[in-house]
Amino acid sequence: MILDGQDPAAVLSAAQALARGELVGLPTETVYGLAADAGSDPAVARIFTAKGRPSDHPLIVHVAGVEGVNAFAHDVPAFAQRLIQTFWPGPLTLILPRRPEAGAAAAAGQDSVGLRCPSHPVAHALLKACEALGVHGLAAPSANLFGRVSPTTAAHVQGEFGDGLLVLDGGACEVGIESTIVDCTRGAPVLLRPGGVTREQIEAACGQPLRTREELASPDPRASGTLEAHYAPQAKVRLMEAQALQTALDVLGPQASAVAVYARSPLRSPAPGVLLRPMPEQADDAARELFAALRDFDLAGVKLIWVETPPATPAWEGVRDRLQRAAAA
Ligand code: TXA
Ligand code: MG
Repeated sequence: MILDGQDPAAVLSAAQALARGELVGLPTETVYGLAADAGSDPAVARIFTAKGRPSDHPLIVHVAGVEGVNAFAHDVPAFAQRLIQTFWPGPLTLILPRRPEAGAAAAAGQDSVGLRCPSHPVAHALLKACEALGVHGLAAPSANLFGRVSPTTAAHVQGEFGDGLLVLDGGACEVGIESTIVDCTRGAPVLLRPGGVTREQIEAACGQPLRTREELASPDPRASGTLEAHYAPQAKVRLMEAQALQTALDVLGPQASAVAVYARSPLRSPAPGVLLRPMPEQADDAARELFAALRDFDLAGVKLIWVETPPATPAWEGVRDRLQRAAAA
């Protein structure tokens, strides 16, 4: 059931459902989440079951504000505090040392916890309403079946989980790809997943360079967003440079069908049956429509999606990352 997220009565029903241990589809500025009370292990377990997600893949806990950090984390390093001040509320998740008594199921038993304060007004209203009912954080992965394309509209969420799930409609997501994740448990910031906040913005706010996991040798936490194959539509995705793409189109011949092309460069297809969709020229516009575009191609029934490789610049890192994973599936 989709309810209008602008309606305070709908937000209250959603908060009450969460307080009863049920799941709710939650709009955020990045993608829609499948939310449960982070303080309830049985409620969190329902997320893993509904998604078909392996139980050792930790979830992000969403909090209403900076105050929420101390409920779940301790020993927040100075660079992480700067990141919080600069980017919260917004599309940035921080991995922090976890309070042993809080969020164990959401963290999949790890001694760290991923925290994020979303900027979407409906998410904020829901988190506030939850607090009033004694629910102090919402565990929420993207609201898609494991390995599939993340949802950016309420209808996408309903398509994944059916009408039995209460989904708050907050419109189409502004950012369109998942939050940037920075691991703050290793003494220096480590980028685990590129996203709406860029590498350059993080380094500027931290006042220090991002490091890689390889540089700071220690056991890797499991991050499903960092699995190679992920965000996969039904059709097979292939990344190509514009010229190779044009050559491939020419070779296909005029009878070709069931192929979609998603490119920034102006390409010509000799086959009228090939679906040509222009990719936006700006990285943030491309991010905003990326997952909906992949879903549209599936709905159109294509078997192949040929995508022009995005530029190798920091602004495009999040989009490039998602497309590379979609292509690896
Ligand atoms: O934008 C987003 O982050 C969205 C919206 C709903 O907030 N959520 C999202 O959740 O993308 P999910 O579960 O699809 O991705 C969460 C990522 C996973 O890759 C997970 O492994 C990682 O965060 N993660 C969560 N807690 C972690 C931890 N303690 N250590 C390492 N990685 C963690
Ligand atoms: Mg996900």
